Amino acid sequence: MTGSIILIGPMGSGKSTIGRLLAARLRLRYVDSDALIVHHTGVDIPTIFEIEGESGFRERERKVIADLATWSEPMVLATGGGAILDPANRHHLRQMGQVIHLDVSVDEQLRRIRHDRNRPLLQGTDLDSRLKTLAEQRNTLYRETAHWRVVGDGLRSDQVLRRILRHLQQRAWHLPAGDSGGQTGAK
Ligand code: S3P
Repeated sequence: MTGSIILIGPMGSGKSTIGRLLAARLRLRYVDSDALIVHHTGVDIPTIFEIEGESGFRERERKVIADLATWSEPMVLATGGGAILDPANRHHLRQMGQVIHLDVSVDEQLRRIRHDRNRPLLQGTDLDSRLKTLAEQRNTLYRETAHWRVVGDGLRSDQVLRRILRHLQQRAWHLPAGDSGGQTGAK
């Protein structure tokens, strides 16, 4: 389906929060690929990593994204931070519609997700250097995969939403009637 909006970007960039807001504003179905993996598997992501390792999780992620690419209904899709590692995923995501890279710096990631327990790649010590390494490995892939990028450092989700809506309008995307940035009362 080519009319979808796909959010990619590092952990803590706000893909799920913004995805939900965007889907409500555009009156599209909201889909979270991690949530689908959990739903199909019946266990949480840390348990999948524990039992099957990262490669088992990636295999499940690949299947879910390949399946989503066959849906006929447009959607707002929030992906996991590592979804762009797989070339087939990158291809499918770009085929599905507009791919937006929600970007945040490592410092902002640290502020937002320092105490997270649901992300296996963040457990252990020296989170700062782990996030930097992930960013080095992945930033080029985010940029190659995305049609455009929005930097969320220091912005609330309603502000990021407004930027995305502005981008969409500039690309002649049809926005259903409503205000330009959600009903959050932001100035
Ligand atoms: C991952 C990000 C997570 C989740 C998994 C692996 C990654 O999703 O898919 O823990 O490799 O960056 P979020 O980006 O939504 O946290």
